[in-house]
Amino acid sequence: MINRKSREEIKLMRHAGHIVALVHQEMAKVIEAGISTLELDKIAYDIIKKNKAIPTFLGYCGYPNSICASINEQVVHGIPHQDTILKEGDIISIDVGATFRGLVGDGAWTYPVGKITPEVQHLLDTTKKALFAGIEKMIPDTKLENVSAAIEDVANENKVGIVRQYGGHGVGREMHEEPFLFNYRTNSSVIIKKNCAIAIEPMLNLGCDEVHTLADGWTVVTDDKMPSAHFEHTVVASEDGPLIMTELM
Ligand code: MF3
Ligand code: CO
Repeated sequence: MINRKSREEIKLMRHAGHIVALVHQEMAKVIEAGISTLELDKIAYDIIKKNKAIPTFLGYCGYPNSICASINEQVVHGIPHQDTILKEGDIISIDVGATFRGLVGDGAWTYPVGKITPEVQHLLDTTKKALFAGIEKMIPDTKLENVSAAIEDVANENKVGIVRQYGGHGVGREMHEEPFLFNYRTNSSVIIKKNCAIAIEPMLNLGCDEVHTLADGWTVVTDDKMPSAHFEHTVVASEDGPLIMTELM
């Protein structure tokens, strides 16, 4: 069952989303060659705590940290580590969740570390474009398939791979609620309900679609070791159009 959010729940989600955006604002400042992903995790944890929220990921299914930090061929769920040091030319996807008074905001962004190649920049631009194309389709009483199709079309036009094992999701009192959102067409007949909240999160690859999980049980990487990008916003389908929760207020 897809649930609708009350006005009060949307207000709280907007607050949770603002905290997620504060973390990303700081990530954009501190990400540079030489910093470790564990330092980034600590910075994120402190911002979430300072804002009286709970790091949603910490302890989720046993996950050990507050952010996922996925470098280059890592798609999602990279675990922060003191020995994982960013270097010039890397890309790093930071995914973070904050729970504020019981409501979750979930958002991810891929950052360049210094100068990156034009091909990788194009992957970042394309993935961000796919996210916003999907967001535009978050209209009540229309098909969720339109969101999937918009993402797929941007990926195909730009000849990048689409990660198929992972996708977006309903979000609210739980990080993962119904419905699942595919990043490609599936002929789904699910309808976007008014005031439902969905985390839209295209994961696109410079190479092939295929991915697998490393022996740590978390880190997802591309089979061909080509770079992967991930952009995510939590979005409410309001009657006035899509509302992004995970932006600065
Ligand atoms: N935030 C991820 C998602 O977008 C899930 C992270 S899993 C966790 O769905 F274990 F790291 F929390
Ligand atoms: Co998510």
